[in-house]
This record gives sequence, structure tokens and C-alpha cells, in this order.
Amino acid sequence: MKYLSVKSPIKEAEAIRQKIKAFLRDDLRTDKDVDFVYFPVQESIAEEMKDLWLVKRDFKKREINPVEDIKTSYDVIGDIAILPLDIEDEERALVLLGRKNINVLLKRLSPVEGEHRTRKLKYIGGEKRTETIHKEHGCFYKLDVEKAYFSPRLSTERSRVVKKMEQGDFVIDMFAGIGPFSILAAKKGCRVLSLDNNPYAIRYLRENKSLNRIKNLDIVLGDSGKVLAGGKNVADHVIMNLPFKSYKFLDTALRLSKENGRIYFYSIGREEDLFGEQIREIEERIGKFRLYEKRVVRPYSPYRYHVCIEFGPGEG
Ligand SMILES: C[S@@+](CC[C@H](N)C(=O)[O-])C[C@H]1O[C@@H](n2cnc3c(N)ncnc32)[C@H](O)[C@@H]1O
Repeated sequence: MKYLSVKSPIKEAEAIRQKIKAFLRDDLRTDKDVDFVYFPVQESIAEEMKDLWLVKRDFKKREINPVEDIKTSYDVIGDIAILPLDIEDEERALVLLGRKNINVLLKRLSPVEGEHRTRKLKYIGGEKRTETIHKEHGCFYKLDVEKAYFSPRLSTERSRVVKKMEQGDFVIDMFAGIGPFSILAAKKGCRVLSLDNNPYAIRYLRENKSLNRIKNLDIVLGDSGKVLAGGKNVADHVIMNLPFKSYKFLDTALRLSKENGRIYFYSIGREEDLFGEQIREIEERIGKFRLYEKRVVRPYSPYRYHVCIEFGPGEG
């Protein structure tokens, strides 16, 4: 079958391509011979643009990979794929259900928000449920993706942090969620205290404790600031993954940390001053501290990054 195309001398091809790009077909491959380039185009170009050299000819079909072609910033948690907020063609995304590890397709309707850092989701296709079991670093995490926070994008960060821990260390996970830092640390042989004020997150954390056959993990439902009001110099590691708000709990974390303990303070940094604001925040709240490391964890939104500042009591 012959298709309509715009014929262009090779030297002018880029200028012509720019001019006609709204009409280019992405299901056919552009072709060329010694002197000319042939751009396959929609038939409607003939009415819209008069000064073009139009010819009909054969074209090879372009292999479109529909999965790759979907705007691919979707997350996979267990067997649930979650499409981003801005995806327009939800119908086309149904192709993801053809993957053997995906049984549910949802779409974000809101960013992660509110005190419990949850998101609103819309059902797009597949099985109608929001509960799943996610596997990460050999551990299992049961959760409801709408009722409790979890991000597979922090997987590398979790293993990076837990690598710094030793068997027998005492770890306090102040904002534990369904437990991805806590369970991994406990699996390594640390003694872990996990807190969260979201009853759903705590329910799943308790299930995850038994799912992963862990003993050395204590779980408390409540506000970390209140529950941890007592206690001093006890923790080797304090994890504070509550960007935007964890600075309010800095004095609690510092009090709980041993002299040589490490506090993992997560926040959102602006591109132009990645760590500056956070470091000033820590200084304002607790005065001098010992900075061990600062790093970018992942991009968060345009020009903003999820960052971690590792510090402890003391100076330097
Ligand atoms: C960003 S999530 C992190 C969860 C987990 N650490 C992870 O990496 O998946 C923050 C968690 O802090 C909890 N949270 C918010 N305010 C809290 C508070 N005052 N005390 C205890 N937990 C709190 C939320 O319910 C949420 O589960």
C-alpha cells in the first residue's frame, strides 16, 4: 500500500520536518534515497499546507512498543501499576495489564498529601483492589496503596541506610509507615522501634512483622513527638522520613541519639540551594551538630529533590 509523504531535498530536510511536524505519522518510518528524504504524513496536510512536494510511496511500518510508549513514570507496587497524575490516554495504558506481574491498574488523582502522606487513586482496569504484597530486598510488604504511604523509588536509599547499621544496633524509625526501613533493619539483626500515627500503616506493619518472621521489632501507633517524649542517649540510628515536617521533631531525635549515633533527616531541597535550607533549619532547631553526609535521594518534582542529611550530636 502507498502512503502520502512530503518529499524534501536532503539539505532542507530538517527545516521541512520542523514545518510539518504536526502532520508526521509515527506509525511509519521516514525513508530516504540519495538526494531526498520522504516524510510519511497525514492525508489532511494536503488541505492545510499548499507549498509542499507531496508524493505517494511505500513505507516500512514502525514497531511501536505500546508499553514503552506510555508516558513511563508509572510506579509498580506489588502487582499494582500506578499511573502518574498527568497521563491523558488511560485507555492505552491498559496494555500494562498484559504484563505478567501486573493485575491492577490505577491512576493517581492527587499527589501524596495530608498527615499520613497518602494519595487518592482512580481505578482504571484489572482486578478491583488496592491491597497487594510488594517484594523488596528479599522482604515482603503487604499494604493498601491508598491507605498507607509506600514508594518503591526509595528502595536504593533503604539499602544504603541499612548497610550502615550493625547487628545489635538500636534503631528508631520515627515515621515508619508500613515498615520498609524498619523491617530491613530488623532483618539485619538490629533492635528496632517503629512508630507511625496512621492506624492503617501500623496494621500493615504488624502484619509485615509476622510475614517476614521478625521478632526484634516493637511497633507503636501514635504521634512520635509525644510517644518519644522520654528517653535519652539510646539510639544508634534515628530515621526521620517525613519530608516537610520532620524538622519539628529534630530536638526529639537529637535527644534520643547516642553520642556517636546517626540521624537520617529527609527533606525536600530546591535545585538552587539543595541542602542549605535544611542545614540552617537543623542549626536553628538544635544548634551545633556533626554533619556526616548529605546526598540527593531522588528527584521529587521539577527543580526539587528528596534529600537526606545524616548528622549526629557534637560538632564538625
Ligand atoms: C513519607 S511517609 C514514610 C513512611 C516510611 N518511612 C517509608 O519510607 O515508606 C511518612 C509517615 O509518617 C507518618 N506520620 C506523619 N506524622 C506523624 C507523627 N507525628 N508521628 C508518627 N508518624 C507520623 C505518616 O502516617 C506516614 O506513614
